[in-house]
Amino acid sequence: MNLLQVRDLRKEYRQPGGAVPALCLDFLDARAGEALAVTGPSGSGKTTLLRLLAASIRPTRGKILFAGQDLGALGEKATAWRARSVGYVFQEMNLLRDFTLRENLLLAAAISGIPPSTARERVLELTRRLGLENRLQHRPSALSLGEQQRAAVARAVLHNPPLLLADEPTASLDAENAGIVLHLLREICAGAGSLLLVATHDESVKKLFPRQVELRRAEGITQ
Ligand SMILES: Nc1ncnc2c1ncn2[C@@H]1O[C@H](COP(=O)(O)OP(=O)(O)OP(=O)(O)O)[C@@H](O)[C@H]1O
Ligand SMILES: [Mg+2]
Repeated sequence: MNLLQVRDLRKEYRQPGGAVPALCLDFLDARAGEALAVTGPSGSGKTTLLRLLAASIRPTRGKILFAGQDLGALGEKATAWRARSVGYVFQEMNLLRDFTLRENLLLAAAISGIPPSTARERVLELTRRLGLENRLQHRPSALSLGEQQRAAVARAVLHNPPLLLADEPTASLDAENAGIVLHLLREICAGAGSLLLVATHDESVKKLFPRQVELRRAEGITQ
């Protein structure tokens, strides 16, 4: 049974000058525990696809079913669904700069509805696994880029989401740190049976994935 089903998906952003075609993906099926690279040139819609899968934006046309739920039909429930079901690693990491690593992680856990005592244990377990246990008192500005990227991974996987989305998670890292972050993402998802999609334009990253979704630049929707 497929966890994710995408059919005839199109996204156009509405702008004052007209609609901007952003994504065209006719078909995609994926099962729990799978790891896919989302590839394609700049502007082909990689980030747009991840945002659609996170139900942050709605399709212009077509359907996304995740565990039988039509994401385009979530309406007001989208935020709650996202908090429960999705982990998102942002390219810019988006760690809160005035808070320590521990506070960043505990805050994310609270938003996902994890009880405080469970959250504290989970933060310890994950930071140990990601080699960040000595950095919990530090703010993001005191962490190296590689550490910030691993912190962003920890934050995204805290609540064991069935869907983990990562947008160019290794863009600012050297090859060694990129390898570490990707390995951890794959390992954590395989362990939890989560579906992982990683957007990347990096050929060496692409090769590490058993499956690829290749996007082409979208054209306008013709009726
Ligand atoms: N909010 C927006 N409003 C209008 N157009 C947008 C918006 N976001 C993205 N686009 C356009 O949609 C297209 C796809 O953008 P997207 O960011 O998904 O591409 P991408 O494959 O992630 O590119 P990159 O590799 O540069 O990150 C681009 O032409 C982009 O300019
Ligand atoms: Mg992008």
